[in-house]
Amino acid sequence: MNNLKSYLISCQQRVEKALDARLPADHILPQKLHQAMRYSVLNGGKRTRPLLTYATGQALGIHEDSLDALACAVEFIHVYSLIHDDLPAMDNDDLRRGKPTCHKAFDEATAILAGDALQALAFEILSYDPTIKANDTARLKMIATLSKASGTQGMVGGQAIDLAAVGTKLNLPELENMHIHKTGALIRASVNLAAIAKADLDPAISTHLDHYAKCIGLSFQVKDDILDVESDTATLGKTQGKDMHNDKPTYPALLGMAGAKQKALELHEQAILCLKSFGSEADLLRDLSLYIIERSN
Ligand code: IPE
Ligand code: IPE
Ligand code: MG
Ligand code: MG
Ligand code: MG
Repeated sequence: MNNLKSYLISCQQRVEKALDARLPADHILPQKLHQAMRYSVLNGGKRTRPLLTYATGQALGIHEDSLDALACAVEFIHVYSLIHDDLPAMDNDDLRRGKPTCHKAFDEATAILAGDALQALAFEILSYDPTIKANDTARLKMIATLSKASGTQGMVGGQAIDLAAVGTKLNLPELENMHIHKTGALIRASVNLAAIAKADLDPAISTHLDHYAKCIGLSFQVKDDILDVESDTATLGKTQGKDMHNDKPTYPALLGMAGAKQKALELHEQAILCLKSFGSEADLLRDLSLYIIERSN
């Protein structure tokens, strides 16, 4: 785990620089929009999705220089999803990453547009960023992977299920389906983009990685639900207890706290099994799976 700590720090520093370099400068018109984009991206997120992209790259022997753009594309989609998730029409949150949410710091229209622009920027990066060392077929596959993970068959679809479920009782398969879409899909894409970047990857290896990513994508949201109950606002950087307040279906609400924790542990164990064909080169992926279910924010 010491290995993980130093990896987290060096990787987070790397991704901060890569994100900063790809965001429009805040003195360029329209300034308010660019300020809102930079405010929402460069504000101390955990960068779990980029970390997964780099860790997958490490497992496959890909140089970090050709992973930066992929990591940024996924993080931009993620931040866009957070900005919109916090809007009054959705979860109506005031606090994100320890600071006022985008629509509070700016205004609702600017927050909507900042999310829209971050989404477009992610696909511009996958289409043109010169640091991506992939042929056109692989690039197209990356664009298809991230767009599917972002749209109705991924994050946006999951968010729609989440909003429609407010105040209703979902059963376990329905709850799992919601979590797999709203959070799991982007986490899966973070791993799969790096796998696509590896030329001539054995399809069996990419299937193992995809199954690993599915497990941790779900465990990530299970833990998010647990933290909403057990943590505190200062540690989370977002308002604790909002799920219950908004009457959201969650794992602790359906399975109880012990059941939710057991589910997270089982998913971690499954994720580790998916990596059994790898040696120590996948240790960071193993450590990240544990980090996801043990994190405090
Ligand atoms: C929060 O994501 C929203 C979910 C998908 C559960 P993170 O916990 O990754 O948030 P940041 O990026 O670290 O702020
Ligand atoms: C958000 O889930 C998933 C997204 C697509 C952003 P939550 O609504 O539980 O995320 P938080 O708790 O606000 O970060
Ligand atoms: Mg939400
Ligand atoms: Mg929310
Ligand atoms: Mg949550």
